Amino acid sequence: MTVVSKSIHGSQNITAGCIISWEQTPYGIKGKTSESNFEISVYSPEIIRVQLSREEIFKPNPYSVVSLPQEGLVEIIDQEQKILILTGKIQVKIDRDNFAITYLDKKGHVLNQDDPAFGVSWLGTEVTNYKKLQSDEKFIGLGEKTGPINKAGKAYTNWNTDNFAYGNDSDPLYMSIPFYMGMHHNGAYGIFLNNTHKSVFNFGASNNRFAYFSAEDGDMDYFFIHDKEISGIISAYTQLTGLPPMPPKWALGYQQCRYSYYPESEVQTLAQTFRDKDFPGDVIYLDIHHMEKYKVFTFDQEKFPNPKAMIKALKAKGFRVVVIMDPGIKVEEPYGPYREGKSKDLFLKYPDGEIYEGQVWPGWCAFPDFTSEEVRKWWAEKMSYYLELGVEGFWTDMNEPASWGQFTPNLINFNYEGEQVSHRKARNIYGMQMARAAHQGAVQNHQRPFVLTRAGFSGVQRYAAAWTGDNVSSEDHMLLGVRLVNSLGLSGVSFAGYDVGGFCGEASPQLYARWMSIAAFSPLFRAHSMINSKDAEPWAFGEEVEEISRNYVKLRYQMLPMIYAAFYRSSKNGLPVAKSLTIDYSRDTKIYEGPYQNQYLFCDQLLIAPVESNKEITKVYLPEGTWYYLFNDKQYPGKQEIYLDTPINYLPVFVKEGSIIPMQSPIAHTGEQHDGNLRLHLYKGEGKSQYIHYEDDGQSHDYQSGHWYQRAIILDSDRQELTLDKVKGTFPSTFEKIELIFHGFDIRKVKLEEEELALSNKVEAFLPKITDFDPLPDNRLPYLETPVLPRVIINNSPKRMVIKFK
Ligand code: NOJ
Repeated sequence: MTVVSKSIHGSQNITAGCIISWEQTPYGIKGKTSESNFEISVYSPEIIRVQLSREEIFKPNPYSVVSLPQEGLVEIIDQEQKILILTGKIQVKIDRDNFAITYLDKKGHVLNQDDPAFGVSWLGTEVTNYKKLQSDEKFIGLGEKTGPINKAGKAYTNWNTDNFAYGNDSDPLYMSIPFYMGMHHNGAYGIFLNNTHKSVFNFGASNNRFAYFSAEDGDMDYFFIHDKEISGIISAYTQLTGLPPMPPKWALGYQQCRYSYYPESEVQTLAQTFRDKDFPGDVIYLDIHHMEKYKVFTFDQEKFPNPKAMIKALKAKGFRVVVIMDPGIKVEEPYGPYREGKSKDLFLKYPDGEIYEGQVWPGWCAFPDFTSEEVRKWWAEKMSYYLELGVEGFWTDMNEPASWGQFTPNLINFNYEGEQVSHRKARNIYGMQMARAAHQGAVQNHQRPFVLTRAGFSGVQRYAAAWTGDNVSSEDHMLLGVRLVNSLGLSGVSFAGYDVGGFCGEASPQLYARWMSIAAFSPLFRAHSMINSKDAEPWAFGEEVEEISRNYVKLRYQMLPMIYAAFYRSSKNGLPVAKSLTIDYSRDTKIYEGPYQNQYLFCDQLLIAPVESNKEITKVYLPEGTWYYLFNDKQYPGKQEIYLDTPINYLPVFVKEGSIIPMQSPIAHTGEQHDGNLRLHLYKGEGKSQYIHYEDDGQSHDYQSGHWYQRAIILDSDRQELTLDKVKGTFPSTFEKIELIFHGFDIRKVKLEEEELALSNKVEAFLPKITDFDPLPDNRLPYLETPVLPRVIINNSPKRMVIKFK
C-alpha cells in the first residue's frame, strides 16, 4: 500500500492518515496509520482509550489513571471500509482511510464523531482531536474553569497558573482537569485527555465546525466514556482516576484561616473567642508567618516559642492545626532542607545540572522535584517534624509552581517517574505530586490525612481537597466560587471550597453574611483573607453578621450526619457532595439559564440557590418534583420559577420531596459529643425513597475494613411507613435514640410494630430566631413562621424496625 501523507494543499496540518496495518490485542486493537502508531483499548464497557503517537512508543502520563484495560470485553468486526469495536455499551467505528472515529450508543445513536477531514492532526508537536459539533451540544466539566456552567462557545487552556485576584472570565487558574462531558439530543459522553502538557479545549469558540482538544506535545491519549446519565460518566471517570478517600470528620467542620495568624497569643485568643462566642469551629490555619523567614519545616521561635504546647492547648479546645507548606526551599547553606536537597540531588535542575532557582516568599528558592518518587518520600519523611508537634492538616500552596515573574523557563528538567522531561510536560502535574507527597507524609500518623491543595491535575482527588485560590470579595466572585466548586465536582474533585469572604479585598457585612450562609452548604467550609486587610473573622462585621453566621455554622454542624454520609457515598461512587443541577437534571434546559446555573444539590437532598447579598427578592428555579422551603416547610411544585424573598438572614434552601435528612444536636466542634438523639427529618414524597445512614470513628482507616455502621432507611410516603433496616457493620452508632420528625404528613398515630408511640407536636426551626438589631437593615425579614411538626422518639435498636404512621 502506498503511504499517503495527509497534508492538504501544502498545509502544515498533518492528519493521522489511513490505517495501513492493525491487529487485535486482548483489549482492543493496535496498529499503524500512515502517520502514527495507534492503540484502542477497552477499560470497561463504558470506557475506551485511544492512543496515537508519531513516535515508536507511547509515553503515557503515569499519574492520573489508576485502572487497567480489561480482557475479553470486546467484539471486533472487520469491515471493508471500517473496523468496528463493540463493548456492549459503546460502538466504535473507525474509518480505515482517515482514522476518523465515530462513537455510537448500543442503539446506534451517534454520541461523538471526529471531524472526518481532520480527526487527529498534528501541527508541529501539537496534537489535536477535532470533533464534529452536534446540534445543541452542551459542554460541562473541565474542573476549575470560570464562565458559565455550560461551556459551549468557549475555549480554555490548561496550564496551572498562580492567578491572583482572577476575574470572572480569567483562564487558566491553578488546577487543570482535562475532562469534560458533552450532551446533546442523542445522549451524553465524557472525554479525558490523558496528557499533562499544556492543553486547549475549544467547545466551538470562534468556529461553527468543531469542538477540539489539543496538547502542545506528547501523545494523543484520551479516554472516551459513555453512560446514559451524567452521574454514570462521572463515576466512570473517578473509577479511572481514583476515588476520593474519606476525609477526617473534623475537616468537614468550619475552618478559619488568615494570612496570617501570629504570634501564638493571637492564635490562642482566636480559639478562645470561638468558644466564648459559642461559635462552632474545628480548624485554625497557620499561613506563612508561622515559619522562620518563610522556611518550610520551621517555626519562628519568637512568634511561636513552643508550637507543641500551643497545638496541644488548641486541641484541648477542639481545634486542629493546619500548616501551610510551599514548595520553595530557601537557598541558604545552613538550612537543613536546602543542604539535604542539594546533597541528595532532589531539586529541579537546568539541563546542564545547575539547580534551578526562582524567587518566592523566602527569596531565592530551590524546588524539590515532586515528580520523583525519591523526592516525595524525602518530603514525606521531613513532615515528621510537624507530626511530632501535633499538626494534623497540611495546606500545599504555590504549587503550580508559582514564583515571582510567574514564568518558569521551559527547559528545566523534571524526573517524571524516570522519563526525564521538561517543564512543558511536568508543570501541570507538579502540584498534584506535591499534594501526593503531603498525603504520604500525613498518613504516617495513621490517621486520615487532610491535605488542601491549590494546584492539581486529574486524579488529585485521591490525595487532597482543593480550594479555588485567591478570589475577590465581591458578589460575582461569591457566585463564581460556587460554580467553580460545582464544576470541580463534575470533574472528580468532590471535596472543594472557596475562601469565604473573599481573599483579596474586604467584604461588606452583608456580603460576608451571605457568603457564610452559602458556604455552610459547601463541601469545604473555610474562611480566609489577605494580609493587610481588615479583620475577617465572623464576628468582625458587627453583631448581626455574627449571629447570622453563627446560625448557619450551627446548622452546618447539625447537618453533619447528612454531610458525612454524603462524603461516604462520594468515596464510593465519585459523585460530588455539591452537585451541579447538570448532573440530576441535565435534560432540563432551564437549569443552564442565568443565575439558575449556580444552583446545586447539597448531599443530594437540599437544593441551594445562591443569591447575591443585596437582592431582597430573587428568582429560583425548582426542577421537577415537589420542594419544601427549609425554613417554613412551604411546599412548591417543581418545574417552575418562583420569586422568593431573600433577606440577608435567609438563604434559599429547599428540601427535595421524599428526603430523609439526619441531623444532630448543635455541637461546638466535631470532637464534642452530641446529645445522643439522631433527628430524622422525613419529607413526604411519592412512593419510596431511601437513605443510607453512615457512621464510623471519623478519623482512622478502619472504615476501609468494615468498621462502620450502615443502615438503610426507607420511607414509603404512599403507605406511610418507615423501615429502619437491620444495622450492618461493626461500628456502634453514637446515637441512642432516633427522633422521627414528619414533614408534610398529616398524622394522628404512629406505631412501631404493634406498639403505639407517644406523638408530640413541636415547633421546628432550622435557624434560631435572630435578635432584633437596631437599626434593622432594609433587607431583613422578620423571623419566618416555623411549622409545628409531629414527632416520635424511639430507641436506636440495631434490629429491623418498621414504623407505620396514620
Ligand atoms: C497564596 C494563597 O493562595 C493564599 O491563600 C495564601 O494566604 C498566600 N499564598 C500566603 O501564603
